[in-house]
Amino acid sequence: MAGKIPAQFIDDLIDRVDIVDLINGRVQLKKTGRDYQACCPFHDEKTPSFTVSREKQFYHCFGCGAHGTAVGFLMEYDNMGFVDAIEELAQQQGLEVPREGGHSSGPDLRPLYETLEHTTSFYGQQLRKHPQAQQAVAYLKERGLSGEIAAEFGVGYAPPGWDNLINQLGSDKEGLERLRITGMISEPDGKCYDRFRNRIMFPIRDRRGRVIAFGGRVLGDDKPKYLNSPETPIFHKGRELYGLYEAHQALRKIQQLLVVEGYMDVVALAQFGIRYTVATLGTATTNEHMEQLFRVTHKVIFCYDGDRAGREAGWKALKTTLPLMRDGREARFLFLPDGEDPDTLIRKEGTEAFTQRIDNATPLSQFMFDRLSEEVDTSEPGGRARLAELAKPLISTLPKGVFRNILQQQLNEIVGLDTSHIMGTTEQAPARKRQTNPRSSHKPMPLVRRAITILLQHPQLALLQGLPEKWHELDSTGTNLLEKLLELVQNHPNLKSAQLIERWRGTDEYPHLSKLSTTDLLLPEQGIEGEFRDTLIAIEQQIRTDELNQLVEKAKTATLENQEKDRLNQLLRENSSQR
Ligand code: UTP
Ligand code: MN
Repeated sequence: MAGKIPAQFIDDLIDRVDIVDLINGRVQLKKTGRDYQACCPFHDEKTPSFTVSREKQFYHCFGCGAHGTAVGFLMEYDNMGFVDAIEELAQQQGLEVPREGGHSSGPDLRPLYETLEHTTSFYGQQLRKHPQAQQAVAYLKERGLSGEIAAEFGVGYAPPGWDNLINQLGSDKEGLERLRITGMISEPDGKCYDRFRNRIMFPIRDRRGRVIAFGGRVLGDDKPKYLNSPETPIFHKGRELYGLYEAHQALRKIQQLLVVEGYMDVVALAQFGIRYTVATLGTATTNEHMEQLFRVTHKVIFCYDGDRAGREAGWKALKTTLPLMRDGREARFLFLPDGEDPDTLIRKEGTEAFTQRIDNATPLSQFMFDRLSEEVDTSEPGGRARLAELAKPLISTLPKGVFRNILQQQLNEIVGLDTSHIMGTTEQAPARKRQTNPRSSHKPMPLVRRAITILLQHPQLALLQGLPEKWHELDSTGTNLLEKLLELVQNHPNLKSAQLIERWRGTDEYPHLSKLSTTDLLLPEQGIEGEFRDTLIAIEQQIRTDELNQLVEKAKTATLENQEKDRLNQLLRENSSQR
C-alpha cells in the first residue's frame, strides 16, 4: 500500500477544483439563478431536482437526497474509490499526489516508465538521424503527416537490426531486465533481440502522458502490419486508449470523443484538426474503455468501416455500452463508406465534410432498432413480437432511467402495443414522494412526439378531413407544435418534410424536429393514415387520464371545489364508457 495522502493536499485540491466544471463534463447543467440544475444522475426523474452550487462547491438532489463535494461526486458517479477520485482530480489539475512517508511497498514501476521514456527519445532521434530513416520520413510525408503532428504524437523510428535498442539501453543487467519487463525485447530462441525493427513507432501514452507501450508499423507490406507491445505490468491493452492523452493536451474541454480503429486514423484526424479521437489498440472496445471514455465526456461516437466486419464491431461496442448508458450519456455510431477508414476519408473529403459525418452519426437507439429490424419482418405482427423479444434483453441491461424508458417507449411504438401499455411502462414511481410540480404537465409526451413524427414524414396527412380535435385543448409545448405544423401544411398544402422543417431552423425545436423527421417508426405504408388518427385519439385519451389522475391525487389530500368534483365525475364516466 502506498502512504497516506496528506490532508493538506486534499484541502488544497478541493480548493482548486470547480465542482460545476467537473459535473458539467458528465451531466449537462443548466444555469438557473445562482445555481446550476440538471435531472439527477442518481435517480430516475424527468424534471430537474439536482442542484449544483458553485458558491458552496456542493451538489444536492432534492428528489433523492444525494449530496456531496466534487470528490464525493466522482466516487458516486464514476464508481471510484476515494484515492482514485483524488488521483483523478489531481491529474486534471496537473498535480502529483504526494504520499506521507514517501514510499510505497508495491513494486516500484518508475524505472519502467523511465526506460520507455528513453526508448521514445531514442526512436525519435533515429527518425531524424539514422541513415535508413529517410525511407521512414518519406513514408510519413507520403501519408501527409506534418513534422509538428509527428512530434506531438512522439512518432519515431526503430531502425533495422537486431540490437539497436539493446545496445542503447540494455548494456547492463538492470537495463536489459527493464527492456524485457516492458516488452521491448523478444526472445524466440532464448537470445535477446529488439522486438521492433525497421518500423515507424507510435508511443502509447497513459492518461498522465507516460509512455507505457508502443505500436510499430512496417514501412511496406510486410506482416504483421502493426506490432504492439505485449501486456506488461504497466500496459493493459483492454484499458488503454491511444490518443486520449494527446486529446487532453490539445483541447481545453473535451466535448465528445470519437473512437476509431487505428493509430494512423487518430494521427491523420489530428493532422486535419480533429483532436478528439482515440483508438482502441487492436482489440474490441471493452467495458474498461467505455468507463474511461465516459469519465472524460458524456458523448462518445464510434466510428467503423461500413462493411460487415465494421457493423459487427459496432454491434459489439453497442452491447458493451448499453449497461453504461446512464442518463446524460450519449453514444452514436458512424459507419464509413465501404473500403474507407477515417484516415483515407478525411484526406479525400476534408475536415468539414468529415465533421458533418460525425455530427450526423446514428444515435445508439436507432442503430439498435435498425439492426434488430433487419432480422425480422416488422410489417407483420409476428415479426414485431419477435423484435420485442430481441430488444428486451438488450434494454434490460441498461441502468434505470429516462433513457431506458425512452428505448422501451420506442420499442412499444415500433411494436405497436396499445397505449395503455405504453403508459404503464413509462411512468415510474418517483424515488421519493415529492410535491406535485406545476411543470409536470409539460413532461414529454411520447404520443405527441409520435404524432409529430408521423406528420413530419407525411405532411399531407394534415389535409385529412375529420381529424380528432379535442387534443387542441391541451396547452403544452408538444401539442402547440403539432398544431402549428398542421396549420402550416393546411395553409401550404404542397410543403414537403424538408421545407416544413426549414421553417424552424434556428429555433430550439429545430434539432428535435430534424431528428424526428428521420426517425424510422417502421410503419407499413398503407397503415399510416390510421396510425395518425389513432395517435391523436390516444393523445386525447391520455390528456383525460392525466387530468383524472391529478384530480384523484388532489382529492386524496384536499377538498375539491364543486367545479372540480363535476369534472372528476364526468371524467370517471367517460373513462368507464371507454373500457
Ligand atoms: P488496420 O489494418 O485498419 O490499419 O488496423 P490502419 O489503421 O488502417 O493502418 P494503415 O492505414 O494501413 O497504416 C487497425 C488497427 O488494428 C491493429 C492496430 O491497432 C491498427 O491500428 N492492428 C492491425 C494490429 O494490431 N496488427 C495488425 O497487424 C493490423
Ligand atoms: Mn488506414
